[in-house]
Order: sequence, then C-alpha cells, then structure tokens
Amino acid sequence: MHVLVIGSGGREHALGWKIAQSPLAKKISFAPGNAGTESLGRNVPIEADDIASLVSFAKKEAVDLAVVGPEAPLAAGIVDKFEAQGLRVFGPVQAAARLEGSKSFCRNLLRRNNVPGPEFTVFDSAERALAYVETLERFPVVVKADGLAAGKGVLICETRDAAENAVKSVMKERKFGKAGETVVIEDFIEGEEASILALTDGRTLMCLPSSQDHKRILDGDKGLNTGGMGAYSPTPVVTPALEKRIEKDILIPVIHGLRMEGMVYKGVLYAGLMITKSGPKVLEFNVRFGDPETQAVLMNLDTDLLALMDAIVRGELDRMELKLKTGWSVCVVMASGGYPNTYEKGYEISGLDSAAGVKDAVVFHAGTSRKEGKVVTAGGRVLGVTAHAKDLATAKKTAYEAVGKISYKDAYYRNDIADKGIGKYRKKASRR
Ligand code: GLY
Repeated sequence: MHVLVIGSGGREHALGWKIAQSPLAKKISFAPGNAGTESLGRNVPIEADDIASLVSFAKKEAVDLAVVGPEAPLAAGIVDKFEAQGLRVFGPVQAAARLEGSKSFCRNLLRRNNVPGPEFTVFDSAERALAYVETLERFPVVVKADGLAAGKGVLICETRDAAENAVKSVMKERKFGKAGETVVIEDFIEGEEASILALTDGRTLMCLPSSQDHKRILDGDKGLNTGGMGAYSPTPVVTPALEKRIEKDILIPVIHGLRMEGMVYKGVLYAGLMITKSGPKVLEFNVRFGDPETQAVLMNLDTDLLALMDAIVRGELDRMELKLKTGWSVCVVMASGGYPNTYEKGYEISGLDSAAGVKDAVVFHAGTSRKEGKVVTAGGRVLGVTAHAKDLATAKKTAYEAVGKISYKDAYYRNDIADKGIGKYRKKASRR
C-alpha cells in the first residue's frame, strides 16, 4: 500500500514509524512531515490544511490510504473530500468531526445519550452569557470557545471577574476568531485526568492502552498550559474495571448515538476524561490521535496498525484482534526554551544518533527541519523521546537516558514525566 500520513508533528512521526512496520506498507509519504519522517518515506511539501492539493497528490500518486493526523483538516471535511473522489482515508467525516470541532455539539450529543460529564449551558450571545455568569454561585467555572482554537480555547475561571473577562475576550473581542461565536460554560470537575484512544469503524470499538498527558510546562503540573509535555501509557488511574465502564458508559453510547443520527464514526476517538469520585466524566472528545499520547501508546502496540486502519476503512474491525506488548512506555517532550510563549527556531540539534542507540528508546521528531544537511529546531515541541520497558520506572529512566544525549540551544523538558503513575504503582505495591 502507498500510505499518506498528513501532518508534521511527533504524533505523525509515531504513526509513520508504526505503519512502516507493517508488511502491507510498501511506500509512505508525509505531508508535510518533519526531519524525522524523512527516514521512513518521502516528505511532500503540502500543508495539512491544503485539502485540494492533498486530494490531487493522492490521486496522482495512487495513494491507497491517507491517515489524517491533526484536527483542523478533519473539521474542514478532508474525509468527505477524499471519499467523494473515491480515495480511502482514515478519519471521521466532517459531521462526526464536530465532536471536536464544536464543543456545544459534543456536549449536547453527550447529554442526549446520557454520557456522564459536567453540567453545562450554551450561549450564542455575550450578553446572555454575562447575565448567566452573574447568577453563578460556585467557582471555578470553565468557559470554552465552541470551535477549534489550537488547544487554547478552554479557560478555567477561578472568580466571577475572571469568567466575565473570559466571556468578553472570547465572544466580544474574538480572541479565537469565529471559534468564539458561541461559548459553553461548564461546571469545573475535579479528579485525575486520563486519556483513552479507541479505534472504531462505527460499530466495533477497540480501546488502545490508556495514557496520561502532562499539559503544564513546569514540573509538578505548574505553569502555563501546553500541547502536552510528555505522556506515559498505560496509567494506573484507568484500572481494567474502569476501562470497561468507560467503554460501556461513554464510548459505546457516543458511537451509537452518532450512528442513530446518521453519522458512522470511523477512525480514532480520543476521550479526555476526568476520573472523579463518582466515576469517569468526559472533559472533551478529540477526533484524532493525541500528541504526545500516541508516541507512548503506539510503543505498547503489538498488532499491525496499518491492518487495523485498513479494516476500519472497510468497516471490518470486528475481524481484527488487538495484541499489546507487556510493559509501559514513557514519552518525554523536548521543547524550545520559551514555549508555549515565544521561542527561537533554527538551532542545530546534536546527539540524535547517540539517543537512537539507547536500547528500547525511539526519538520521534516534532518541530524539526533540515537545513544545510543538519537537523534544526523548527517548532515549540521539538522531539518526543520515547521508551518502552517492562515497568514504568525503567521506561522513564530509559527515556531520560536518551534525552540526556540530545542537546540544542535553550532545550527545555520536564523532569517528572510519569512520576504520578510510578507513585501510584508504588503505593499499590506497599499496600499488598
Ligand atoms: N495531548 C493533548 C491533545 O492531543 O489534545
């Protein structure tokens, strides 16, 4: 098969890395890819949101399967456009991609299907939203821009003033453009966060190993929010019994609910969950693989990912089996100093070969590019250094051993990725 992976991040490098292990994969193209994906196939200079050019490329180059990494092309209808041209593509159609592309669509669908989540109200008028905030008695509350806002549209407001300011900046000042035409105001829910990525053809559902992201920039979950500074998988927060409950009470009702409304969801469904005292609740749904969760999750996967994706597109996931490796994986994101605010690009990265030589470690590239034959930094999140081991503490140690071999100016990474999970396993063991 000729596979086209669309996107340029660590997630797309990891997807390509796993797809390349399949005997079905004869050729892989990346649009646009990064300096790491070059070693797996051909980088094509087409941006992930240039759907017309991607369709032309897929037709001209006889692409057998396109795999869409980021959410923006999915929300813009890339799957519908590929399918209209008879092209095969892994991902949900535009109507179903509203699960991520419209927070109000998502919350209303969950409500109609009795899926547990916070209480919420939707507003398409700033005046009505502000009047509602006046009536609130409990804070924090969560103000969400309805549309896609590059992961920045969720504002946790500790006070009434903060909530008013959030509504004004999203709806009146249009901080996130059209994404802020509507807002959802939600109750703040407390607990432990966890992510589940589930593969589905709209009828059969297969949960990949759970994971836990580290969204804040500083150790100890402090500082600004980022796209994710590291992840480990699986997480002890999601026990086998809890995973069954998540499948039964959350994932299946969502897939079923969409189907009842005429949308067959094919692709990967990413449930961002809060595990509360009263059970799992949905924080958000994404319609694509998580980044950096994917880097850790795919290292735990034994099954041929391309065969699974192909079966999903055919609607035959029920014929497939999921095989997992025993053990855990940890992904440590190396970022550019200054991220998630402003940062410099173009610094030469050294030590990549030496890091790749660390047994059981893989260096996934994210914001990298090639300049005069050298690999240089080209984004906020630069690399996802990932390792697999029989236990979580060893996976962390191996990942950081590989991190220690890499250097570039102003490199920044957290030192505590996976510590929450390691602490929980230790606590469990000491109770035995
Ligand atoms: N790691 C968070 C996300 O992919 O949305």
